[in-house]
Amino acid sequence: MMLPPQPPAWTDEDVESLRPRTLDEFVGQRPAREQLSIALRAARERRETPDHILFSGLPGLGKTSLAQIVARELGATLHTTTGPALERARDLAGILTQLQEGDCLFIDEIHRIPAAVEEYLYPAMEDFAVDLVVDQGPNSRTVKLRLQRFTLLGATTREGLLSAPFRSRFGLPIRLEPYPPEDLAQIIERSARLLKIQIDPDASLEIARRSRCTPRIANRYLRRVRDFAQIKGCPRVDIETARVAFEGLRVDTHGLDELDRSILETLARAGAPVGLKTLSAAVGEEDDTIESLVEPFLLRQGFLDRTPRGRILTPLGYDVLGKRPRPAPSAE
Ligand SMILES: Nc1ncnc2c1ncn2[C@@H]1O[C@H](COP(=O)(O)OP(=O)(O)OP(=O)(O)O)[C@@H](O)[C@H]1O
Ligand SMILES: [Mg+2]
Repeated sequence: MMLPPQPPAWTDEDVESLRPRTLDEFVGQRPAREQLSIALRAARERRETPDHILFSGLPGLGKTSLAQIVARELGATLHTTTGPALERARDLAGILTQLQEGDCLFIDEIHRIPAAVEEYLYPAMEDFAVDLVVDQGPNSRTVKLRLQRFTLLGATTREGLLSAPFRSRFGLPIRLEPYPPEDLAQIIERSARLLKIQIDPDASLEIARRSRCTPRIANRYLRRVRDFAQIKGCPRVDIETARVAFEGLRVDTHGLDELDRSILETLARAGAPVGLKTLSAAVGEEDDTIESLVEPFLLRQGFLDRTPRGRILTPLGYDVLGKRPRPAPSAE
């Protein structure tokens, strides 16, 4: 059965109902959970605000969820903004001066803060103070304004784009890793309970294996497989139903969807390095989307490689397509 065209696998639906609410509900990522649990407990015992925390990792691994958990476990008010929303230092000053003692400020996509705003954040992070320009014209002067002690929670999918001085101002860097299938299966089972979906353990694992190591995608596929089971009149999701549903979704056993395969096919046809712009034109997807959402998985699985001259298909990539590399043209 062919299903209608699907929105990309990384989009969220109805996120809030499935978000883990406490550190205990947060599945996997043991090192991250342990670090956070110690830091939060110590801060609570000292009655101090914890260090600023930087969450980094690929999209959909749980950065926003963890930031919300931190605020909840601290019993702190959470204020939320994003890097691109902080266009001018003034935007940031407005937020910082509103913060109360012990509040958490979450800045998502923190790598997209403009440089001038980033520097304005340094004294706020270190000394809990900012410079404010008051009055205009000849009377204009800067005054130092003390801020209440707060905890900055930053999230980024591109930690490498943060400047070293900025990164070093976070006392607690938390790196989220891609999830192994067993952890994803546990997340799927938890979500199934919350959504009142009956699912067999081997079906959960089947969904987990195709979910590109990412909880957001796992939750999304769980809903799609559930829809499929419902239409087929199956009260329970079993492995057979899951497999047929994935055929309909055109997601293969490696977790590759049509866009992934079309990227790999383009590289196979080229048989030579392909630049990002060319690739994006060939498959009809934004280059940014390819670079930040699609490619990291393909790279990590070893299906493609980046070279200075562009992307190339690896031998493993050819295997996945069931193709052989074209023989290199003989030098005549
Ligand atoms: N460890 C986990 N345990 C259970 N569910 C999780 C976990 N991590 C993520 N999720 C689920 O995956 C969804 C996506 O997670 P979240 O929004 O926190 O990711 P993110 O890292 O902030 O992504 P982005 O970079 O796109 O903002 C959440 O709604 C949640 O349901
Ligand atoms: Mg997020």
